[in-house]
Amino acid sequence: MKLIIDTDCGIDDAVAIMMALAHPDVEVIGITTVSGNVDVAQVTENVLGLLAYFDRSDIPVYHGASHALLQGAVRASGVHGDNGLGGVELPPTSGARRPEPAPVGLAELLRANPGATVLTLGPMTNLAMSLNLFPDAVSRIGRLVAMGGGIDVGNVTRFAEFNFYADPEAVQFVLDRGVPMEVVPWDACIEHELSRDDLSAVGLRDGRASELFFRLQDFVLARSQHVYGRPFTRHPDPLAMAYAINPGVAAQIRRTGLTMELGNGTLRGASVRTDGEQVRAVMSIRRDAYFAILRRIGDL
Ligand code: RIB
Ligand code: CA
Repeated sequence: MKLIIDTDCGIDDAVAIMMALAHPDVEVIGITTVSGNVDVAQVTENVLGLLAYFDRSDIPVYHGASHALLQGAVRASGVHGDNGLGGVELPPTSGARRPEPAPVGLAELLRANPGATVLTLGPMTNLAMSLNLFPDAVSRIGRLVAMGGGIDVGNVTRFAEFNFYADPEAVQFVLDRGVPMEVVPWDACIEHELSRDDLSAVGLRDGRASELFFRLQDFVLARSQHVYGRPFTRHPDPLAMAYAINPGVAAQIRRTGLTMELGNGTLRGASVRTDGEQVRAVMSIRRDAYFAILRRIGDL
C-alpha cells in the first residue's frame, strides 16, 4: 500500500512511523507535518531526524500548519516532552524538507499516486487546507484513516480526544467533503495500557531500532509512574497505523455518522455520533494482531 502520513510527531507518532518503515507491504510516499503535540518546526525536525536515523531521507517531508484553522494552539508537550520525543535526541540530519507546504504536498502526492492511503496522526489541519485548495484531491484518496475522536470517551476532556479537539473545524471540513473516514478513536486505545513487561513480551529483535523504541517509551513510562502511580504507555498512533496496514486487526467496527461540536462550551471538540455511515469507527483492536505488526520494528 502507498501511504501518506500526516503527523504531529510525538513519541507514539514516531513508533507508528517506524512501523510503516518496517512493514514490507507499505511504501511511505510522503510525510506531512502539523503542529500538535509540539510546534510544527519541532515536528518537522523530529520526522527528518527519524528518517535519517533509518537512512530513509529519500521519503519527502512537507512542513505544514503551525496553527489550527480557527483556535489557538493546543499542545501535549507534557505527555511527549519539550522536543516531542521524550527528550530522545536524534542525530542532526542533512535531510531537508520539500519547499512546498504540506497542503500542496498532500495534493501533489495524491495527484501522482491516486488511490493512496492518507493516515492522519495529529490535528487534521493540513488535510482540510489541502482539500480546500484542491477539491479534486478528494477523489484521489484511496482510504482516509485517522487516529482521533472519542465515541464514548475523551482524553483532553471527558468528551474530546486531542487530535480532533486541537482542530475540530478541520475535521468537520473533511467530513463535509463526504470523504469516507476510518477512525481509530480513543475508545480503541484505552484498553491497551502497556507495561514495560508487555512491551518486552512483544519480542522485538534486539538492535538499534528496538533500542530507540524502548528509549522513546522511557519518558511515557516514567511520567505515568509519576502521574498515575504505575508505569504504562498507550499507543494510539501505532494502533491506528496497524489498522491502516491491516484492517483485520480490528475486533469491532461501528458504522456511523459523525459531527464535531464546534461551540465554545464544555463539549467543544467532541466527536458526536449521528445517523449515517460515512465513518467506520474502530472500537477495539486485537492486541496479538497489533503486536504482530509492532514487532516488525525490530527488523529495521
Ligand atoms: O489523543 C492521542 C493523539 O494525540 C495521538 O495522535 C498523540 O500523538 C497525540 O497527537
Ligand atoms: Ca499524534
